[in-house]
Amino acid sequence: MAEDLLSVQDLHTEFERGDGTVYAVNGISFSVAPGETLGIVGESGSGKSVSVLSIMGLLRGNGQVTEGTAKFMGKDLLRLRRRQLEDMRGRDIGMIFQDPMTSLNPTMRIGDQITEVMLSHQYTNRKGAFNRTLQLLEEVGIPEGKARFRSYPHEFSGGMRQRVMIAMAIACEPQLLIADEPTTALDVTVQTQILALLRELQQKRRMSIILITHDFGVATNFCDRIIVMYAGKVMESAPLDGFLRRSAHPYTIGLKRSVIEVGTQSHQLKAIPGMAMALTEPPRACPFAGRCDLAARRCREELPELRAIGGDHYVACHRAEEVLAAGATLDNLMAGGVVSAG
Ligand SMILES: Nc1ncnc2c1ncn2[C@@H]1O[C@H](COP(=O)(O)OP(=O)(O)OP(=O)(O)O)[C@@H](O)[C@H]1O
Ligand code: SF4
Ligand SMILES: [Mg+2]
Repeated sequence: MAEDLLSVQDLHTEFERGDGTVYAVNGISFSVAPGETLGIVGESGSGKSVSVLSIMGLLRGNGQVTEGTAKFMGKDLLRLRRRQLEDMRGRDIGMIFQDPMTSLNPTMRIGDQITEVMLSHQYTNRKGAFNRTLQLLEEVGIPEGKARFRSYPHEFSGGMRQRVMIAMAIACEPQLLIADEPTTALDVTVQTQILALLRELQQKRRMSIILITHDFGVATNFCDRIIVMYAGKVMESAPLDGFLRRSAHPYTIGLKRSVIEVGTQSHQLKAIPGMAMALTEPPRACPFAGRCDLAARRCREELPELRAIGGDHYVACHRAEEVLAAGATLDNLMAGGVVSAG
């Protein structure tokens, strides 16, 4: 098996606030193989963005990584000097975010912004960067590159701006692209086009991708492997096949059900009842217990560890075997029919 490109182990991140500590990431581990697409899925506030910002050294304000390692191409990103990490960001690891306007400079021509990425990493000289920018614009689906080179971000639609961001992110041919909700702000048709573009670029380059999304449907269409996060912890992790056929965590099943609901007549996202809360102390029991129909006494007293349940499938739930045994009838199970809450 190929060695992992990125391997994150036991990552913890906290934020100090005036009124106490927020435990945003609580010991997550995951890895990404060369050429693989990893999906990180979870509701708002589950710690998806903070996890990747932590490993990229981009935490804002009073955020701090308190434990863990993040080995990328053999180097621990959490222990690099600031300068070394800045060199790697944008060169070896590209990033795109939900709102390109926050990452693009509104006063600078888009061509110059793409060129600048290459020049700042000494990827090529000015002439080389100019020519490559024209190629990149074409590759990301922006026609008439020479004319568009001189446009400003506000002259572009949301979808076109995201294409510019993608061009910037891949300009130095990174081995890993991190995309944090890259299509959330776009309408469904443009979302599909952008995901298709990412896939095409990835296949040409054998680049790895981490795709962060709250949309389970997007993750299952795009990723080789998915991890589901909740309260800064990994609840379940499996290859796509495992997720589609046999999810073993009640939270994952809740997320999946919300996708099924969207696919049916109502087009209304049926949320899992209850709310994800920021943790003000480290989790000592199952963080999902307050919202889980299957919560039993043990769930409220003992933290479920992430454990293998066969093959490459991991789950953090005391009752995973019962959930699995219920198989395709899980909706009934969640409605209270098959397994009692004990
Ligand atoms: N600067 C901060 N100060 C305090 N708490 C923070 C800060 N940034 C993030 N958090 C907390 O960390 C937790 C995880 O946030 P994060 O942004 O990673 O969520 P997310 O899964 O990316 O959600 P979304 O889907 O909304 O982007 C949240 O509870 C959030 O309130
Ligand atoms: S450990 Fe218990 S409360 Fe948590 S998800 Fe599993 S069954 Fe539900
Ligand atoms: Mg986020």
